[in-house]
Amino acid sequence: MTKKAVDTIDTDKYPHVNKGLDGIVAFSSSKSAIDGDKGELIYAGYNIDTLAENSTFEEVAFLLWFDRLPTRKELDELNDQLVAERHLPDTVVNYLKNTSKDAEPMSVLRTATSMLGDFDEEAEINEPEANFRKSIRMTAKMPAIIAGFQRARDGKEVLAPLKEGSTAYDFLYMLNGERPGEKAEKVMDICLIIHAEHGMNASTFVSRAVCSTQSDIYSAITGAIGSLKGPLHGGANAAVMNMLLQLDDDADVEAYIKEQLAERKKIMGFGHRVYRTIDPRAKHLQKMAKELAEETDMMTLYNWSEQIQSVMKNEKGIDPNVDFFSATVYYSMGIKTDLFTCIFAMSRVTGWTAHFLEQAGNNRLIRPRQLYTGKKNLPWVPIEERS
Ligand code: SDX
Repeated sequence: MTKKAVDTIDTDKYPHVNKGLDGIVAFSSSKSAIDGDKGELIYAGYNIDTLAENSTFEEVAFLLWFDRLPTRKELDELNDQLVAERHLPDTVVNYLKNTSKDAEPMSVLRTATSMLGDFDEEAEINEPEANFRKSIRMTAKMPAIIAGFQRARDGKEVLAPLKEGSTAYDFLYMLNGERPGEKAEKVMDICLIIHAEHGMNASTFVSRAVCSTQSDIYSAITGAIGSLKGPLHGGANAAVMNMLLQLDDDADVEAYIKEQLAERKKIMGFGHRVYRTIDPRAKHLQKMAKELAEETDMMTLYNWSEQIQSVMKNEKGIDPNVDFFSATVYYSMGIKTDLFTCIFAMSRVTGWTAHFLEQAGNNRLIRPRQLYTGKKNLPWVPIEERS
């Protein structure tokens, strides 16, 4: 007698599926804390507002890697290490020059970052000191990958990194072929600070999941880049810009957004799994977006952004997230829209690597359960008898 063809699914064992792991606390971490009700973000003890107003990206990188701010000597050492590691292997530069000019920049960043591992003697050494050095290398080299691909696809010379200056300064120099002014450097540095870390977001989860199998940090960051690329995550900033740019000059923005909502479309740059009020990072980005729009005669884009913000609040009670105003900031700086998510990635690599180091220091294989909804013990049917 054949077993009953279809057993009941395991609801007795797994009564509830938390789709998207919504509400599941899967890790303990000292890297950041998000209070979604208060709209508060803390990096290893320091409020994001404090860091955006007083710190630098390199100082924040140290904070995330070591859970404390550096001394002057330690920060100088880290800056020297980052500068020393900025150069790219020739093979990677050649890849940037020879790959398809139409390739998606985040795909190029994913491929080139993975390729860095081929030339890192410590790539397969899974020890804390080696993983920290690799964290520095990827943080130092990603700006050169992004800027290098941008210039290569424009048919311009791929510039060697500078041997001085901040990450923000060197990135803008390699991208534009001229040294940036103080304001541009400061804006980029603040953007890098506020994009660096954000708890258990999807791409950081990927970094920890890869780490948990004792795989290497290049694999973890490659996977994290792939996750961030998605429009529901880091890809939203580019999607925001594309939405703004397709609006006619005389567009009725309020009517457009209401139409999108009526069609149950998501408005990119709004909403968040954790925040129930405005993302604290959006406040800094909105301030910079307004200042830059005034300076670059792009007030139309900024005014539309404020109108969209108002409609979304009134219609859905939803606030901007980090991706909404970052779009106008980067666009006002003359950065190509499809590079926006790459800039997110070259900052978040500090958070991804900080979580990798933390996971490796207190590891347990990440392996959740699933509720099986298929059939069980079906009888075999020879192919000739299948219809
Ligand atoms: C980032 O996790 C992180 O911390 C990420 C990040 C980080 O720093 O790492 O903060 C960076 O990824 C920011 C998010 C960027 N993505 C977007 O801007 C894409 C648009 N946003 C949405 O897709 C959405 O808000 C998410 C994905 C961000 C969050 O989605 P959830 O938590 O799964 O919420 P949901 O989709 O279930 O929405 C709940 C309700 C729904 O309404 P109902 O269907 O229940 O009536 O809110 C509505 C949604 O329709 N809603 C939106 C909306 N976001 C939520 N409606 C219109 N537009 C939106 N953007």
